[in-house]
Amino acid sequence: MNKKLESAVGKFIEVQQHLRAHRSHWLVTGAAGFIGSNLVEALLRLGQKVTGLDNFATGHQHNLDQVRELVGSAAWSNFTFIRGDIRVPADCARAVASADYVLHEAALGSVSRSMEDPITTNDTNVTGFLNMLVAARDAKVKRFVYAASSSTYGDHPALPKVEDEIGSPLSPYAITKYVNELYAEVFGRCYGTQTIGLRYFNVFGPRQDPDGAYAAVIPQWIAALIKNKPLFINGDGETSRDFCYIDNVVQANLLAALADDPEASNQVYNVALNERTSLNQLHAMMCELLAEQFPHVRDHQPQYAPFRAGDVRHSQADISKAIKLLGFAPTHRIGEGMRQAMAWYIRNLTYNN
Ligand SMILES: NC(=O)c1ccc[n+]([C@@H]2O[C@H](COP(=O)([O-])OP(=O)(O)OC[C@H]3O[C@@H](n4cnc5c(N)ncnc54)[C@H](O)[C@@H]3O)[C@@H](O)[C@H]2O)c1
Repeated sequence: MNKKLESAVGKFIEVQQHLRAHRSHWLVTGAAGFIGSNLVEALLRLGQKVTGLDNFATGHQHNLDQVRELVGSAAWSNFTFIRGDIRVPADCARAVASADYVLHEAALGSVSRSMEDPITTNDTNVTGFLNMLVAARDAKVKRFVYAASSSTYGDHPALPKVEDEIGSPLSPYAITKYVNELYAEVFGRCYGTQTIGLRYFNVFGPRQDPDGAYAAVIPQWIAALIKNKPLFINGDGETSRDFCYIDNVVQANLLAALADDPEASNQVYNVALNERTSLNQLHAMMCELLAEQFPHVRDHQPQYAPFRAGDVRHSQADISKAIKLLGFAPTHRIGEGMRQAMAWYIRNLTYNN
């Protein structure tokens, strides 16, 4: 391991030790969703007090039930859930009251959903975001960390993606995520609100929803393979992404919340691995991992469908800014992450059949 990475690994260990020794109060919005529920789990395991806010638009009670089982009753007693909507300012104010840190994940994800219904996506992702930012400012939280997105790179051709070089947005969803960054920057400048935006690149892992028209590719494909249903690749399969396992995202959030370098605040950061995997490679990797337990997956052939409007062709993150200013050190590359995610899906999808 090189020196830079060694000290970065040390930073996350330091942050975890600090959290074990000092209890703070966190608000996680989108707590019943994929990323939110993983953040709640990590924080409760570290002895933190956590409030979760969610309206179950795309999140599920069973995600919270699973966290409760995993962390045990003592840690779970530090969790309060508020069923509420970030489009309602009073819900945001109630949720943020007495929080030290906000991890804002609530939003309507999915490029396709935003193409079909840009208004609802805008209401949640822009108006809801602004409501949360105002509530966090008024409650004087220490830091507001929010889910930004690699979609902000739009049509910019450069690879890997560097934070300050973005192109034109390719979907209504991408606009909403970019507007979040603009609001966060202005709140820093006008009100002194401390914010950090994390541009996630195709996150995957346990509790990511495999169902519904807007499911992300990894859980959708795992479910299709396990259940022996048709699996579609949009385009020729050479489209590529920087797939990022959830543990790396949890790490980035905790580092961002506690970053004490003054230069680190009021910035946006790429969160991924600086690696690129094509959809064809992804499919082959999944089949290999599943083949032993599900023989029908051996020699599985995907079906190819037309390219999807609004999708970028290639995506790969330069993560040197997060390494330098946050001490980010991803612990899981795609193969390790996929093995862990697969074990979870096999347990959960085969039980729920
Ligand atoms: N998963 C990814 O690959 C990825 C990539 C880039 C950015 N992001 C962003 O990360 C965040 C979390 O995404 P996720 O993958 O966990 O999605 P998710 O759909 O699993 O979680 C989002 C959660 O927000 C909740 N929510 C939606 N509208 C709400 C509202 N009006 N009020 C309260 N709660 C509401 C949903 O019910 C859900 O539980 C989102 O902001 C998303 O845009 C995700």
